[in-house]
Amino acid sequence: MIEQGWWHPVAAVHELEDSGAAPLAVTLLGTELVLWRDGTGAVRAFDDRCPHRGTKLSLGRVQIVGGEHRLECAYHGWQFGGAGRCLHIPAVPVFVPADTHAARAHAVREAHGLLWVRMAGAGDAPAESAALADLPTRQVVCGPYEVATSAPRLVENFLDTSHFGFVHAGWLGDRAHTEVPSYDVVSGPEGAPIVPLYRAWQPQASAAAQGGAWVDYRYEVLSPYCALLVKQAGAGDAPQEAYALWVCPVEAELSRVWFTLFTSNASQSDESLRAFQDRIFAQDQPILEAQRPRCLPVNGGEVHSAADRMSAAYRRYLRDLNITFGVC
Ligand code: FES
Ligand SMILES: [Fe+2]
Repeated sequence: MIEQGWWHPVAAVHELEDSGAAPLAVTLLGTELVLWRDGTGAVRAFDDRCPHRGTKLSLGRVQIVGGEHRLECAYHGWQFGGAGRCLHIPAVPVFVPADTHAARAHAVREAHGLLWVRMAGAGDAPAESAALADLPTRQVVCGPYEVATSAPRLVENFLDTSHFGFVHAGWLGDRAHTEVPSYDVVSGPEGAPIVPLYRAWQPQASAAAQGGAWVDYRYEVLSPYCALLVKQAGAGDAPQEAYALWVCPVEAELSRVWFTLFTSNASQSDESLRAFQDRIFAQDQPILEAQRPRCLPVNGGEVHSAADRMSAAYRRYLRDLNITFGVC
């Protein structure tokens, strides 16, 4: 599955902290995984399946043996080290398990307040872009939102502006400004679509906005299931605020979503910034969950208008990458 070669967000960093020393169960691309933190502070991700008799390793606990942190299975107490190898079998204490007595381990990274897993391949960092380096330094992670639809439906909705005047009337758009101005789509790395400049009228563009304003946006697809939008007060100004959309493709038709807000707004609390995003996303969610099919049709089956140029480019990008998870 080609999607396994990309980095995907699976949990917020604090979810693992909040669980104390307990392992955390997550699902990525239909595969159940367990996350846990070893003695070096590194997060580990294994298939959530004990290689002995197949029960979930997430039912186990982290044990400290001689200063070393091990994940102990709940069933027969086999202990696994950070690299996945079984180090101790309590029923046969003198036995030294072979390399093949191992849980399947995956690459893990921390970035943007989230934990990322890549199940196959090598290299690259999670969702990197030159645009991310330039953003305001305050970051607020919003979510997770559990959504009964595919990851590509969520990304396309994030890139879609012609719904603002209807779904977000009075907030991100209004009925007096529903026309979508003509905009250009260019190609970024690996053909990822970018809209360098999109101008929109927004009655309440952010938690801090005092009233309606024209806002210049830059949209960029970062990876098959992640995208970024940057807002500027005027063309050429420093980025004022940005939102990154990070989607975990849990199952083909089930997703977990976070937004990282990058902002120079110092006056509002994290809670009030999250409340704004919760409110906006609560407007999108019922629409998203009502779309049929839940997978994104990338080979025809839906009709477009000129305002959908970005969506069409995103569908083409997924098709060119041979993405199969969440599309039809
Ligand atoms: S099933 Fe995990 S130790 Fe036996
Ligand atoms: Fe929306």
